[in-house]
Amino acid sequence: MDNAKTDFFVIKALEDGVNVIGLTRGSDTRFHHAEKLDKDEVMIAQFTEHTSAVKIRGKAIIQTSHGQLDNK
Ligand code: TRP
Repeated sequence: MDNAKTDFFVIKALEDGVNVIGLTRGSDTRFHHAEKLDKDEVMIAQFTEHTSAVKIRGKAIIQTSHGQLDNK
């Protein structure tokens, strides 16, 4: 659990308009933040007290401690 909040993940957009959507931690799961990335923009983020899940829409490279995903 502690790791979950310190681990960083990296998202690199491969096209314009990639959406990174943060979902709330706890019993009430809802969107709390949507970040739009354009091609070649990179976002580095963590899971936090407020964010337990992330939904990514669009073509992107996603790196986590579990490995890399190429969503093409
Ligand atoms: N205020 C948010 C938080 O502390 C910011 C955030 C962190 C975020 N990680 C995220 C937003 C991942 C979207 C996706 O939880």
